[in-house]
Amino acid sequence: MSISCDMLVFGGTGDLALHKLIPALYYLHREKRLHDDVRILAIARQDIDLDAYLTLAERHIRAQITPSDFEADMWKAFSQRLDYFSMDATQRGEFVRLAHHLGQPEGRVRVHYLATAPNLFEPIASNLESAGLAGEEARIVLEKPIGHSLESALEINEAIGNVFPESRIYRIDHYLGKETVQNLMALRFANALFEPIWRSGQIDHVQITVAETLGVEERGSYYDHAGAMRDMLQNHLLQLLCLVAMEAPVRFDAKSIRGEKVKILEALKPITGNDVQDKTVRGQYVAGQIGGNDVQAYYFEKDVDNDSDTETFVAVKAEIDNWRWAGVPFYLRTGKRMAKKRSEIIITFKQVPHMLFTKGEVNRLVIRLQPEESISLQLMAKAPGKGMQLEPVELDLNLAHAFSSTRRWEAYERLLLDVIEGDSTLFMRRDEVEAAWNWVDPILRGWQSHYRKPRPYPAGTDGPDQAHQLIEHQGRKWWR
Ligand code: BG6
Repeated sequence: MSISCDMLVFGGTGDLALHKLIPALYYLHREKRLHDDVRILAIARQDIDLDAYLTLAERHIRAQITPSDFEADMWKAFSQRLDYFSMDATQRGEFVRLAHHLGQPEGRVRVHYLATAPNLFEPIASNLESAGLAGEEARIVLEKPIGHSLESALEINEAIGNVFPESRIYRIDHYLGKETVQNLMALRFANALFEPIWRSGQIDHVQITVAETLGVEERGSYYDHAGAMRDMLQNHLLQLLCLVAMEAPVRFDAKSIRGEKVKILEALKPITGNDVQDKTVRGQYVAGQIGGNDVQAYYFEKDVDNDSDTETFVAVKAEIDNWRWAGVPFYLRTGKRMAKKRSEIIITFKQVPHMLFTKGEVNRLVIRLQPEESISLQLMAKAPGKGMQLEPVELDLNLAHAFSSTRRWEAYERLLLDVIEGDSTLFMRRDEVEAAWNWVDPILRGWQSHYRKPRPYPAGTDGPDQAHQLIEHQGRKWWR
C-alpha cells in the first residue's frame, strides 16, 4: 500500500527529527515504500532557509545510517520531498500561513508529527484545528512521554481528544516498533510450545533490563525534569511487561492487542506507602569509566542542575494481580551510563520439583532486544565423561543470522509507515497511557513524601547496590 501524504514534522530541527525521523524517512524512500507524492515538511522556529535545512538533514542522515546505504542519487531524489517552514507553533496566526503554504490538495493524508516538548501538544493541536488543518484527512502523532503525571496526561489527552478522534491519534512508543519486540508476540502466539508453561506455577520470575551506556547527551534540560521513571519505565519497560504478560488477543489488530495490554496495566499491584521504599530503587550515576573512558557524574552534564536529584537509574519489583501471574514478580530496571548497552527480558522458570542431580540450574528463556537480537533457552545437559555432571547449555536462535539477507528495519521506519497507512496496532491507546501513569504516580509521590537522595552508582557499573539487594533478598539474582 502506498499512500499520498504530507508529513509535517513539528520540532523539525530537534534531536528526534534529525537523528531518527528524517533518517527513517530516507530509508523508507530508499526501500520505495513512500508514494511518489509524499512531501515532508520540517517545521521549527529557527529562521533558516531550505538549503540550510537540507545541509543539516544530509549531515544527520549520513551520521545515522550505514555508510554504504547513503547514495548521492538517492539523497538527491529524497531531498526533493523535503521542505522547511519556519514558524512559532504557539502563535495561532502562524498556522494560517502554514495552511496557505500547504495548499489544499484533495485526497491526501496529512500527518502532524509532534516531535516537540509535551507542553506544545495542546497549543499545536488547537492551532491546527483553527487553521482547518485537523480535518478527516489529518492524523496526529505524539511522542512519549505524554505528560509527566496522570493529571497532566489526562489534560493532554483531553485537549488532543477535543480536536482529533482517538482513531486518528498515534501515541508513539518506539519500543513497539522494534523487530524483537514484535517477535515476542510471534514467539508467544505462534508457537504452541510456550503457552502451557507461560504462567505462575511454571515461571519463578521475570526480569526486564534496559541498560544504556549513553548519558543524557544534549537532552539535559528535558531529562533533568523527567528522570528514568518517566523517560523509560513508565512507557518502554511497561510496554515490554505488557507484551510478556498479556493474554492472547482474539485477533492481531489494534483493538484486541491494546485491549489485552490495558488489562495488564490495570492489574499491576499498586506500590504505595512503605512499599515504595521496599520495592523501588532510584540511582544516579557518579564519575566512572565506560570502555576505558572517563565519564563525569550526572550532575556535571550539560543543562543539568548541580545538585540535581533526578534518577538516572530505577529498579522496581512489579506484581500483576491476576490469575496467570499471581506470585510472579517482574523485576524491572533501566539506567543510563551503565556497564553495557543491552535490553533483555529473562523468563526464569521454576526448579524441577525433585532434583536428582547434585548440580541443577533453572531453565531460562532469554530474549535479547538489543544490541543483538536473539532468543535463547538455557537448558541443563550432561557434560561428556564419567558421572552425571550437569552444565547449562543454550539453545540459540540468532535472528540476525536467521534472516541475514533482510535489512533490519529501525523502529521509526515501521512506525512512520504504519501512521501513513493508518494502522494503530503498535501505538498506545489513551487508556493504556493513563493506566501506566496511574501505577507510576504513587511511586513518584512516595519518592517525594519519603525523600531520599538517589543512590549513587559509578558510571560503567550495573547500578547501585540497593538494586541488587532488591532482588537478592528474595534469593534471586539479576541475570549476568
Ligand atoms: C528514548 C528515551 O525514549 O529511548 C532516551 O527518551 C533513551 O532517553 C532511548 O536513550 C533509548 O532508546 P533505544 O532504542 O536506544 O533503546
